[in-house]
Amino acid sequence: MKVVIIGSTGLIGKAVAALLTDKGHETVQVSRTTQPSVDLGDLTSINSFYKSLGEVDAIICVAGRRGGGMGSLAELSDEAIESVIREKLVGQVNLVRHGLVNVRPDGIFILTGGMSAYTSLPNMSAGAMVNTGLEGFVRHAALDLQDGRRILIVHSPPVREAVIQIGMDGARFPNAATVAETYLMALESKMTGQPIFVEGHRP
Ligand SMILES: NC(=O)c1ccc[n+]([C@@H]2O[C@H](COP(=O)([O-])OP(=O)(O)OC[C@H]3O[C@@H](n4cnc5c(N)ncnc54)[C@H](OP(=O)(O)O)[C@@H]3O)[C@@H](O)[C@H]2O)c1
Repeated sequence: MKVVIIGSTGLIGKAVAALLTDKGHETVQVSRTTQPSVDLGDLTSINSFYKSLGEVDAIICVAGRRGGGMGSLAELSDEAIESVIREKLVGQVNLVRHGLVNVRPDGIFILTGGMSAYTSLPNMSAGAMVNTGLEGFVRHAALDLQDGRRILIVHSPPVREAVIQIGMDGARFPNAATVAETYLMALESKMTGQPIFVEGHRP
Protein backbone atom coordinates (compact mmCIF):
# COMPACT_ATOMS: atom_id res chain seq x y z
CA MET A 1 0.00 0.00 0.00
CA LYS A 2 1.07 3.61 -0.48
CA VAL A 3 0.88 5.15 2.99
CA VAL A 4 1.41 8.74 4.14
CA ILE A 5 2.88 9.06 7.63
CA ILE A 6 2.48 12.55 9.07
CA GLY A 7 4.75 13.04 12.08
CA SER A 8 7.34 10.61 10.72
CA THR A 9 10.23 12.32 12.53
CA GLY A 10 8.73 11.72 15.99
CA LEU A 11 9.07 8.91 18.50
CA ILE A 12 5.96 7.01 17.37
CA GLY A 13 6.20 8.19 13.76
CA LYS A 14 9.73 6.87 13.25
CA ALA A 15 8.69 3.45 14.58
CA VAL A 16 5.58 3.35 12.37
CA ALA A 17 7.63 4.37 9.32
CA ALA A 18 10.29 1.73 10.02
CA LEU A 19 7.72 -1.04 10.54
CA LEU A 20 5.64 -0.22 7.46
CA THR A 21 8.75 0.04 5.28
CA ASP A 22 9.93 -3.29 6.68
CA LYS A 23 6.54 -4.85 5.77
CA GLY A 24 6.92 -3.67 2.18
CA HIS A 25 4.57 -0.69 2.19
CA GLU A 26 5.56 2.39 0.19
CA THR A 27 5.68 5.34 2.60
CA VAL A 28 5.52 9.09 2.18
CA GLN A 29 7.06 10.46 5.39
CA VAL A 30 6.31 14.05 6.33
CA SER A 31 6.25 16.58 9.16
CA ARG A 32 6.78 20.34 9.42
CA THR A 33 10.52 19.93 8.84
CA THR A 34 10.58 17.51 5.88
CA GLN A 35 10.50 18.25 2.18
CA PRO A 36 7.65 18.33 1.21
CA SER A 37 6.38 19.51 4.57
CA VAL A 38 2.99 19.71 6.20
CA ASP A 39 1.89 21.71 9.24
CA LEU A 40 -1.25 20.42 10.93
CA GLY A 41 -1.95 23.85 12.35
CA ASP A 42 -2.07 25.49 8.93
CA LEU A 43 -4.82 24.57 6.46
CA THR A 44 -2.96 26.18 3.56
CA SER A 45 -0.01 23.88 4.25
CA ILE A 46 -2.29 20.80 4.42
CA ASN A 47 -3.93 21.71 1.11
CA SER A 48 -0.67 22.39 -0.71
CA PHE A 49 0.75 19.07 0.54
CA TYR A 50 -2.38 17.23 -0.65
CA LYS A 51 -2.20 18.97 -4.03
CA SER A 52 1.30 17.61 -4.63
CA LEU A 53 0.49 14.17 -3.20
CA GLY A 54 -1.92 12.49 -5.61
CA GLU A 55 -3.75 9.30 -4.59
CA VAL A 56 -2.71 7.03 -1.71
CA ASP A 57 -4.16 4.05 0.13
CA ALA A 58 -3.75 5.40 3.64
CA ILE A 59 -3.04 8.52 5.64
CA ILE A 60 -1.68 7.92 9.12
CA CYS A 61 -1.29 10.92 11.41
CA VAL A 62 1.04 10.48 14.37
CA ALA A 63 1.92 14.17 14.52
CA GLY A 64 1.48 16.55 17.40
CA ARG A 65 3.43 18.05 20.25
CA ARG A 66 4.18 15.36 22.79
CA GLY A 67 2.54 16.47 26.05
CA GLY A 68 0.64 19.18 24.15
CA GLY A 69 -2.06 20.68 26.36
CA MET A 70 -0.58 19.18 29.55
CA GLY A 71 -0.88 21.17 32.73
CA SER A 72 -3.19 21.76 35.66
CA LEU A 73 -6.26 23.96 35.22
CA ALA A 74 -4.48 26.74 37.09
CA GLU A 75 -1.28 26.45 35.01
CA LEU A 76 -2.64 25.88 31.49
CA SER A 77 -2.05 28.92 29.31
CA ASP A 78 -4.54 30.13 26.72
CA GLU A 79 -1.83 29.46 24.10
CA ALA A 80 -1.36 25.83 25.24
CA ILE A 81 -5.08 25.12 25.00
CA GLU A 82 -5.50 26.94 21.70
CA SER A 83 -2.53 25.20 20.06
CA VAL A 84 -3.49 21.65 21.05
CA ILE A 85 -7.01 22.26 19.73
CA ARG A 86 -5.74 23.90 16.52
CA GLU A 87 -3.03 21.34 15.73
CA LYS A 88 -4.08 17.98 17.15
CA LEU A 89 -7.89 18.28 16.98
CA VAL A 90 -8.74 20.63 14.12
CA GLY A 91 -5.55 19.65 12.26
CA GLN A 92 -6.48 15.97 12.16
CA VAL A 93 -10.12 16.77 11.31
CA ASN A 94 -8.85 18.91 8.42
CA LEU A 95 -6.53 16.11 7.26
CA VAL A 96 -9.61 13.94 6.79
CA ARG A 97 -11.98 16.56 5.35
CA HIS A 98 -9.44 17.89 2.87
CA GLY A 99 -7.87 14.50 2.11
CA LEU A 100 -11.03 12.74 0.97
CA VAL A 101 -10.00 12.99 -2.67
CA ASN A 102 -6.47 11.75 -1.94
CA VAL A 103 -7.51 8.48 -0.32
CA ARG A 104 -8.54 5.78 -2.77
CA PRO A 105 -11.76 3.75 -2.36
CA ASP A 106 -11.22 1.12 0.40
CA GLY A 107 -8.44 3.31 1.79
CA ILE A 108 -8.09 4.47 5.39
CA PHE A 109 -7.37 7.42 7.67
CA ILE A 110 -5.72 6.54 10.99
CA LEU A 111 -5.64 9.32 13.57
CA THR A 112 -3.86 9.55 16.91
CA GLY A 113 -5.48 10.27 20.24
CA GLY A 114 -4.21 9.07 23.61
CA MET A 115 -5.38 7.07 26.61
CA SER A 116 -6.48 10.23 28.44
CA ALA A 117 -9.67 9.80 26.41
CA TYR A 118 -10.38 6.85 28.75
CA THR A 119 -8.20 7.20 31.85
CA SER A 120 -8.68 10.20 34.16
CA LEU A 121 -5.41 11.81 35.20
CA PRO A 122 -4.42 15.13 36.74
CA ASN A 123 -2.99 17.78 34.37
CA MET A 124 -4.62 16.20 31.31
CA SER A 125 -7.91 18.09 30.95
CA ALA A 126 -7.00 19.84 27.68
CA GLY A 127 -5.34 16.78 26.12
CA ALA A 128 -8.26 14.58 27.15
CA MET A 129 -10.74 17.04 25.66
CA VAL A 130 -8.93 16.79 22.32
CA ASN A 131 -8.53 12.99 22.39
CA THR A 132 -12.19 12.47 23.34
CA GLY A 133 -13.32 14.93 20.69
CA LEU A 134 -11.24 13.15 18.05
CA GLU A 135 -12.84 9.84 18.94
CA GLY A 136 -16.32 11.36 18.55
CA PHE A 137 -15.27 12.68 15.15
CA VAL A 138 -13.96 9.27 14.07
CA ARG A 139 -17.07 7.36 15.19
CA HIS A 140 -19.36 9.65 13.20
CA ALA A 141 -17.12 10.46 10.22
CA ALA A 142 -16.93 6.71 9.52
CA LEU A 143 -20.64 6.82 8.64
CA ASP A 144 -20.10 9.62 6.11
CA LEU A 145 -17.13 8.07 4.33
CA GLN A 146 -17.92 6.54 0.95
CA ASP A 147 -16.70 3.72 -1.28
CA GLY A 148 -15.29 1.53 1.47
CA ARG A 149 -13.05 4.21 2.95
CA ARG A 150 -12.38 3.65 6.67
CA ILE A 151 -11.27 5.72 9.65
CA LEU A 152 -9.81 4.67 13.02
CA ILE A 153 -8.19 6.33 16.01
CA VAL A 154 -5.30 4.80 17.94
CA HIS A 155 -5.21 5.63 21.66
CA SER A 156 -1.71 4.80 22.84
CA PRO A 157 -0.78 4.80 26.52
CA PRO A 158 2.39 6.70 27.42
CA VAL A 159 5.25 5.28 25.34
CA ARG A 160 8.15 3.73 27.29
CA GLU A 161 10.89 5.85 25.71
CA ALA A 162 8.96 9.06 26.43
CA VAL A 163 8.35 8.04 30.04
CA ILE A 164 12.04 7.22 30.55
CA GLN A 165 12.98 10.56 28.97
CA ILE A 166 11.16 12.43 31.76
CA GLY A 167 12.99 10.40 34.39
CA MET A 168 10.22 7.94 35.29
CA ASP A 169 10.04 4.15 35.29
CA GLY A 170 8.77 3.11 31.86
CA ALA A 171 8.75 -0.64 32.43
CA ARG A 172 4.96 -1.10 32.40
CA PHE A 173 4.46 0.91 29.21
CA PRO A 174 4.80 -0.33 25.60
CA ASN A 175 7.81 0.81 23.61
CA ALA A 176 7.42 2.72 20.34
CA ALA A 177 7.95 -0.45 18.27
CA THR A 178 5.01 -2.13 20.03
CA VAL A 179 2.83 0.94 19.51
CA ALA A 180 3.78 0.87 15.82
CA GLU A 181 2.44 -2.71 15.58
CA THR A 182 -0.95 -1.32 16.62
CA TYR A 183 -0.96 1.11 13.70
CA LEU A 184 -0.03 -1.73 11.32
CA MET A 185 -2.85 -3.87 12.71
CA ALA A 186 -5.30 -0.98 12.23
CA LEU A 187 -4.06 -0.45 8.67
CA GLU A 188 -4.46 -4.09 7.70
CA SER A 189 -7.77 -4.63 9.55
CA LYS A 190 -11.30 -4.24 8.21
CA MET A 191 -12.41 -2.08 11.16
CA THR A 192 -13.82 1.42 10.94
CA GLY A 193 -15.29 4.11 13.20
CA GLN A 194 -13.77 2.89 16.43
CA PRO A 195 -10.89 3.36 18.86
CA ILE A 196 -7.91 1.01 18.65
CA PHE A 197 -5.83 0.17 21.72
CA VAL A 198 -2.33 -1.20 22.14
CA GLU A 199 -2.50 -4.88 23.12
CA GLY A 200 -2.49 -5.25 26.90
CA HIS A 201 -3.49 -1.59 27.36
CA ARG A 202 -7.26 -1.61 26.83
CA PRO A 203 -9.16 0.67 29.22
N1 LIG B 1 4.73 9.71 23.33
C1 LIG B 1 3.70 9.29 24.04
O1 LIG B 1 3.86 8.78 25.16
C2 LIG B 1 2.30 9.38 23.46
C3 LIG B 1 1.27 8.62 24.05
C4 LIG B 1 -0.02 8.73 23.52
C5 LIG B 1 -0.27 9.58 22.46
N2 LIG B 1 0.76 10.31 21.94
C6 LIG B 1 0.46 11.22 20.85
O2 LIG B 1 1.17 10.80 19.71
C7 LIG B 1 1.55 11.93 18.92
C8 LIG B 1 3.05 11.85 18.65
O3 LIG B 1 3.74 11.69 19.86
P1 LIG B 1 5.33 11.47 19.87
O4 LIG B 1 5.69 11.09 21.26
O5 LIG B 1 5.74 10.61 18.72
O6 LIG B 1 5.80 12.97 19.64
P2 LIG B 1 7.20 13.53 19.14
O7 LIG B 1 8.28 12.54 19.32
O8 LIG B 1 7.33 14.87 19.78
O9 LIG B 1 6.96 13.71 17.57
C9 LIG B 1 5.98 14.58 17.10
C10 LIG B 1 5.94 14.48 15.60
O10 LIG B 1 4.91 15.35 15.12
C11 LIG B 1 5.51 16.31 14.23
N3 LIG B 1 4.75 17.54 14.43
C12 LIG B 1 4.63 18.29 15.56
N4 LIG B 1 3.81 19.30 15.36
C13 LIG B 1 3.40 19.21 14.07
C14 LIG B 1 2.53 19.99 13.25
N5 LIG B 1 1.91 21.10 13.70
N6 LIG B 1 2.33 19.60 11.97
C15 LIG B 1 2.94 18.48 11.47
N7 LIG B 1 3.78 17.73 12.20
C16 LIG B 1 3.99 18.08 13.48
C17 LIG B 1 6.98 16.38 14.64
O11 LIG B 1 7.82 16.72 13.57
P3 LIG B 1 8.32 18.20 13.23
O12 LIG B 1 8.74 18.84 14.53
O13 LIG B 1 9.43 17.91 12.30
O14 LIG B 1 7.16 18.87 12.59
C18 LIG B 1 7.23 14.90 14.94
O15 LIG B 1 7.39 14.17 13.73
C19 LIG B 1 1.09 13.18 19.71
O16 LIG B 1 -0.15 13.58 19.22
C20 LIG B 1 0.94 12.64 21.12
O17 LIG B 1 -0.04 13.35 21.86
C21 LIG B 1 2.04 10.22 22.41
